[in-house]
Amino acid sequence: MAVLIVILGVFFGLCILSTALLRWNDVRYRKKGLPPGTMGWPVFGETTEFLKQGPSFMKNQRSRYGSFFKSHLLGCPTIVSMDPEVNRYILVNEAKGLVPGYPQSMLDILGKCNIAAVHGSAHKHMRGALLALISPTMIKQQLLPKIDDFMRSHLSNWDNKNIDIQVKSKEMAFLSSLRQIASSEASSISQAFMPEFFKLVLGTLSLPINLPNTNYHRGFQARKNITSLLRKLVENRRASGETQNDMLGFLINGGEKKFNISDEEMIDLIITILYSGYETVSTTSMMAVKYLHDHPKVLEELRKEHVAIREKKRPEDPIDYNDYKSMCFTRAVIYETSRMATIVNGVLRKTTKDMKINGFVIPEGWRIYVYTREINYDPHLYPDPLTFNPWRWLDKGPEYQNYFFIFGGGTRQCPGKELGLAEISTFLHYFVTRYNWKEIGRDELMKFPRVEAPNGLQIRVSSN
Ligand code: HEM
Repeated sequence: MAVLIVILGVFFGLCILSTALLRWNDVRYRKKGLPPGTMGWPVFGETTEFLKQGPSFMKNQRSRYGSFFKSHLLGCPTIVSMDPEVNRYILVNEAKGLVPGYPQSMLDILGKCNIAAVHGSAHKHMRGALLALISPTMIKQQLLPKIDDFMRSHLSNWDNKNIDIQVKSKEMAFLSSLRQIASSEASSISQAFMPEFFKLVLGTLSLPINLPNTNYHRGFQARKNITSLLRKLVENRRASGETQNDMLGFLINGGEKKFNISDEEMIDLIITILYSGYETVSTTSMMAVKYLHDHPKVLEELRKEHVAIREKKRPEDPIDYNDYKSMCFTRAVIYETSRMATIVNGVLRKTTKDMKINGFVIPEGWRIYVYTREINYDPHLYPDPLTFNPWRWLDKGPEYQNYFFIFGGGTRQCPGKELGLAEISTFLHYFVTRYNWKEIGRDELMKFPRVEAPNGLQIRVSSN
């Protein structure tokens, strides 16, 4: 009996303490003018609920507090915006003080000249250099031939093999970018570079605690190794005096003079290119393979498009820019994949001063989560939204859709969109014209907070 009383006492004590803490934390943030919402626990906020419940947490909060609410996520007081109009306003108004709000670990590891770390004229300068590097002309003349050459060899000898398509698409995204950056050295440096790059990626997604054996520490070391590898590459290129037709050649030789950038900026830009196109391109490719497997009619239509292109060529002829531009159904498959899988849930911004947004006052330094996921499943924009239907994209592309945020929006809209589409399209070209595949095993797919197959996505591949 006494034990029971003690247990009950402890239980009620904990309940009272929890309620008091939650209430105290809410009161602490009850500033006049803030939007409604709850702040959860001191320090941890509502991070656990957010990570555990994912999209349902967002939808629940929206039904209680509306499309613009406050919370405390991943260590920061945060405003979540799920209102398409407000989202658009936030994305086009960086100049008013709404700058990228990515976590410190990401900024530390990607470098201080990284595009997400710079604002105003410094951002314009870095973005200009990047846009010159991946312009449609560059894609047409330099990048697509390299992508084609890479995909041909990456996708060779898959016949009669069990393949983890998650691993293969990650390697594909990294190695394809590396080939575009340093075409002649890519194969000799990739073995040393790839594991370092994977450590760097993990580090950017970790807590910024610089202790041995943490992902952050390893990511930071990886950045150092990658930086010295890239510096050596640049030195060797300069010493040889040769000009090569790849991104590094373009950057070293000044490209268009107005975008002349320092060596430090050059290295951060290369890391940015590798990083930004890595998870987006690899995950979209993996999920396209998944959806095509599950929807034979879509695969049939896609294959028809690619076989028609191949039939006009000799086997050794590469995909050229006109071929790529003619792949309308492929583009629709990629958009529908991005929509259904929601590869990007949203983007992060932070306020650089107290600001009035949507009728509320947001204090300086708060994070704003421009959460765009739900728009992808809006039945008014996408009738029958849970059906994988690429045909829906054929009459009007996302260019005409005001609320299509898969590539972001406003001043930070993805500059690598065409390059990413060209890579995924070329990958799909060689995949569907060469192979059939069946999923083996029942691999689990996680959709939140990132799309991934925790144990890989195994397929059995056979020749067409
Ligand atoms: C399917 C592929 C891709 C998707 C879905 C995607 C998505 C996005 C999104 C949503 C943003 C906006 C981020 C923000 O507003 O904070 C963005 C920005 C960016 N993307 Fe992509 N991306 C893709 C491929 C690529 C590729 C291949 C590159 C390589 C160059 C790239 C480079 C960048 C860069 C540098 C930014 C930052 C732009 C800035 O801050 O001005 N992306 N991307």
